[in-house]
Amino acid sequence: MATKKFAGPSPYSLKATYPEDDYLYTEYVNDVTCNHASKSQAPPVMAAIFGLGRAGSIHLSNIMGNPRVVVKYIVDDRKERFEELRKYWSLSKDVCFITSAEADKVYKDKTVNVVFIGSPTHTHHDIVVKSISNNKDVYCEKPIAENIEDTRKCYEAAKAKGRILFAAFNRRFDPAYRGLRDRVRKGDVGHVQIIKVTARDSPLPSIDYLKNSGGVFHDCLVHDFDMVCWVLGELPVRVQASASALIPEVKAIDDFDTIAFLLTFPSGAVALGDNSRFSAYGYDQRLEVFGNKGMVKVENERPCHATEALLGQGGVQLTPIYYSFPSRYRLAYRRELEHFLDIVQKGTPMEVTSWQTLAVSKIATAAERSARTGQAVDLDWTKDHIPAVYS
Ligand SMILES: NC(=O)c1ccc[n+]([C@@H]2O[C@H](COP(=O)([O-])OP(=O)(O)OC[C@H]3O[C@@H](n4cnc5c(N)ncnc54)[C@H](O)[C@@H]3O)[C@@H](O)[C@H]2O)c1
Repeated sequence: MATKKFAGPSPYSLKATYPEDDYLYTEYVNDVTCNHASKSQAPPVMAAIFGLGRAGSIHLSNIMGNPRVVVKYIVDDRKERFEELRKYWSLSKDVCFITSAEADKVYKDKTVNVVFIGSPTHTHHDIVVKSISNNKDVYCEKPIAENIEDTRKCYEAAKAKGRILFAAFNRRFDPAYRGLRDRVRKGDVGHVQIIKVTARDSPLPSIDYLKNSGGVFHDCLVHDFDMVCWVLGELPVRVQASASALIPEVKAIDDFDTIAFLLTFPSGAVALGDNSRFSAYGYDQRLEVFGNKGMVKVENERPCHATEALLGQGGVQLTPIYYSFPSRYRLAYRRELEHFLDIVQKGTPMEVTSWQTLAVSKIATAAERSARTGQAVDLDWTKDHIPAVYS
């Protein structure tokens, strides 16, 4: 009886509400109520996809489920896979499979207005520049190019032609990381003192991939640098990194597999990061922000949160964390595609700007230099034409 007084009115007399954070429920409500305002009224974009390996397959899968895109070309050099891919994805004869030697067909086809790039990093610069000079908007996997000079040339080409060049920093579109950033920006943890990012890759990428990756700083750590700057809204003035190659095959190609870094920001905040090419227990992705009012963090996600934990004499066993990026960032890739289409079709401002991508490339170069020389690297941003407030 002690709590009966809290019963209140019948729930039928109350307006049903749900938390805004459940954006998937919002999608469902839009579908069930045919909310036309939530859907794009623009005609679908006509697309070509370069590269159907790990990243390209994720993008193709999202594109196939998205009525805003029609695929006209798939460009890849593994010709032997073409028929199998056509069958697997139930692609009609209207979709042309071609090799990169025939890529001119894409550039010259005026009906193609969007190009998705998921080919190896060393091929990006050429595909970006040719696509843009032929008036196509581009969605390019990170990094845009192997070095900052080529990245700058890509953005200059896009600016000169008035085309969109979108760098696919997928983690920004992860609901958990975005939620963390929103809380930090609302002041929930106060003045940020420390931000910690852990990114340990799984599975171990092939040596062939690593040879063409541009090195771990430009291939992997760009995500971590982008994440901390994006959360803090500022760029570091000092970069320190230490790195080892503990895997002999990685050492043989003069790259690193084990990295720690420390960035110092003008606000006084420091960022600590640890990154590994190989995590034996799954794709370890964590982010934590500590300020003078509190702490907010994103922990690893698991395929089955609701599964009961198994308790035994050995302790408690939970479902394993996600194995790799396609599963951990599944929603992020989907949301990233929607954002790109909003930029192209609705003129929505691009969230990953040219100067942010260039800044991340400069930080990656500085961090690699620090790791190779053992010296801290001070960064001067005064000549980089970067807006005073990084947001
Ligand atoms: N954002 C992310 O989460 C993420 C994850 C993985 C890879 N990537 C990026 O995606 C890119 C591709 O990486 P991946 O792991 O998918 O590589 P991958 O080796 O699995 O696939 C690359 C594909 O591109 C094809 N290819 C090679 N040269 C080509 C060309 N000139 N034109 C068209 N296709 C060509 C290859 O045959 C292969 O099928 C890299 O830039 C990488 O940094 C991003």
